[in-house]
Amino acid sequence: MSDTAHQANITRRETRKPGDLRPEEWTRERWEAAAPLDPIPPGKSTLMELREVHKRFGKRHILRGVTIDIYRGETLVILGGSGSGKTTLLKHLMGMLRSDEGRITIHDGSNRLELGAADQAEIETFRKRLGVVFQGAALLNSLTVLENVGLPLVEVDRLPPGQVLPRVTEALRRVYLPAEEILQLKPASLSGGMRKRVGIARAIIQNPEIILYDEPTTGLDPVTVNGVNELTLDLQAKLGVTSIVITHDLDAAFKIADRIAMLYLGRIIAIGSPEQIKANTNPVLRQLLTGATQGPLTEAYLTAAPGSAAP
Ligand SMILES: Nc1ncnc2c1ncn2[C@@H]1O[C@H](COP(=O)(O)OP(=O)(O)OP(=O)(O)O)[C@@H](O)[C@H]1O
Ligand SMILES: [Mg+2]
Repeated sequence: MSDTAHQANITRRETRKPGDLRPEEWTRERWEAAAPLDPIPPGKSTLMELREVHKRFGKRHILRGVTIDIYRGETLVILGGSGSGKTTLLKHLMGMLRSDEGRITIHDGSNRLELGAADQAEIETFRKRLGVVFQGAALLNSLTVLENVGLPLVEVDRLPPGQVLPRVTEALRRVYLPAEEILQLKPASLSGGMRKRVGIARAIIQNPEIILYDEPTTGLDPVTVNGVNELTLDLQAKLGVTSIVITHDLDAAFKIADRIAMLYLGRIIAIGSPEQIKANTNPVLRQLLTGATQGPLTEAYLTAAPGSAAP
């Protein structure tokens, strides 16, 4: 090999990232490993910094060292198999759960808040900056749609009813719901998809700086799915909202994400732009993106002896 060819070969090898490995180069150790942190791109700043976050429920070790930077103003989509810990991770981001190890730091100019060490008052102040779309809509059954969606304005902002109604009507309109028809209904009288949209309306009503979405489009019709995608993009473009979106909807993920991260066995095993994720050869990601039934995501179930429980 000539010197130049040799040099080119070395350079190529050095700049290769784990996601660029050839399919035959993947080993379990490699596909389960945490993705290295990328340097923060020029013009971006970190809003949330997670380092080696661990969470156990009893003996079950659910988060096993989540390390990620979430940039201000980005839409980050988190993918992962069912039961991989996505909702658990989201609950850590909103201060609802505390990690057993590691840290979550919120950066705010020169101020920083360590969520693990924060007291209740600090968590509550931080939560005012957040809108959360829960996996189930998490509406209060005894309250009407108007009361549910307006709740943060009444309880937190202490607005008079005259100011609450137009804000609720506008929030419902943004998720394609006929406000006049449903304002006085209780959640039980709505369809599942309508309840979900009411949950989204409640999450956006205070114009939050950060929105956490847990499966916002599951169970919605295709037109409303597009509407929710456009809403996320619109909030980002007009208000600079940072969105963290958990979804199983790959179409939506590739439409809205600035970056996509894959959670597997309690770690972020891949992260990058939609193009980088599409090109990533990690077999876990390939299986999720192609929907193949054979692969790392299902091997425990496929190889488990009859009668034994897969993990
Ligand atoms: N409060 C809890 N107590 C005990 N175990 C829990 C608790 N919350 C979650 N778990 C367990 O942690 C694991 C991850 O749950 P989580 O709800 O985070 O998964 P997920 O990735 O959101 O799944 P899905 O896609 O099905 O919503 C599950 O095995 C679940 O049983
Ligand atoms: Mg979940």
